[in-house]
Amino acid sequence: MTERKTVGDLAPGEIRGRRALVRVDFNVPLAGSEVADDTRIRAALPTIAFLRERGARVVLVSHLGRPKGKIDAKYSLKPIVPVVAALTGASVAWCGETTGTAAVAATNALVDGGILLLENTRFLPGEEVNDQALSRDFAKLGDYYVNDAFGAAHRAHASTAGVAAFLSPAVAGLLMERELTYLGGALDGPRRPFIAILGGSKISGKIDVIEALLPKVDGLLVGGAMACTFYKVMGFETGKSLIEPERVELARGLIDRAAFRLTLPHDATVAAALDAPKTVRNVKRDAIGANVAMYDIGAATRESYARAISTAKTIIWNGPMGVFETPPFDAGTLAVAQAMADATEAGATTIVGGGDSAAAVERAGLAHKMSHVSTGGGAALEFLEGKLLPGVECLDKRGAE
Ligand code: 3PG
Repeated sequence: MTERKTVGDLAPGEIRGRRALVRVDFNVPLAGSEVADDTRIRAALPTIAFLRERGARVVLVSHLGRPKGKIDAKYSLKPIVPVVAALTGASVAWCGETTGTAAVAATNALVDGGILLLENTRFLPGEEVNDQALSRDFAKLGDYYVNDAFGAAHRAHASTAGVAAFLSPAVAGLLMERELTYLGGALDGPRRPFIAILGGSKISGKIDVIEALLPKVDGLLVGGAMACTFYKVMGFETGKSLIEPERVELARGLIDRAAFRLTLPHDATVAAALDAPKTVRNVKRDAIGANVAMYDIGAATRESYARAISTAKTIIWNGPMGVFETPPFDAGTLAVAQAMADATEAGATTIVGGGDSAAAVERAGLAHKMSHVSTGGGAALEFLEGKLLPGVECLDKRGAE
């Protein structure tokens, strides 16, 4: 249970016949004007269904892409209308405006259980600067506010945060609640052993997460190219691997502080280049040649990480173990995904932070075997770093009347 109010706390009379202004994160990849991945839209369905079943008039608002405060047809939300209609089995009204007379009129034309989608919030220059006048305009679109856009909750924008000052009640949607329950639960009271697996190419993007998680976890397993920045500290040759020379000292500090809780890959899958299959080798971490780069964790590491995962009760994973888009360098990422799936089956709580690792478990067909796959990339990372998310902080607190 989160400390913020959710749609479940609303009285029936607060919902029925009233306009719910629901901020969703429909920032989905498009292929031309087709939605290429509807994961985030599907993730918003429980909240939409919950509200409709109780007679709400559902007004959906979202950003898409980064149009920087200008109208740009390629970032229109219109292609999302048929997808929401198909997934809900309901007709979805569309308004090509985001705020103003036409948008307000469209909200007032809704019947109980009806759904309306408005145009991209980021077409408006006030959105990203959290303009107060725009927040007031957003507030005219609903009788209460529901934030279900966990993926955008780290943004202090007018539609994700500012509007909540002008609409009451302001509550979390069911997706937001689920995200906070899983991610927050792991940080606040995990079943132990609790391990984190962090990968990705850059230590710079993960440093705050490593710092924040180290005191909480029983073990932190590192993968991805960022392992090479740690290898530098250990004096190993890293060849052509991607390293961040300016972060080596930082990595040294982490190794010193983490002691036995930080595990680096014991071996690596290396190659002369991503497209040079004949040069692919599995080598010990102190045997990476000068003419190769590390593109994945090695076979022994795959096994030992899978073993560690199998003994844990709570596992958080963020960032791929290698260049998972390019086989055979997907083996480490797939091994972690499979070990997580097996751990879920054995009763562990498994959480995949969004972004690349979410894409990887989806590709592996294992997303449904995780306890939770976050829809937030940047938002999940900031949450794990211990930062307060403006899109959460703006919501009504439970117990505060
Ligand atoms: C995301 O895709 O991570 C969210 O929708 C936030 O998008 P942004 O990084 O453009 O703010």
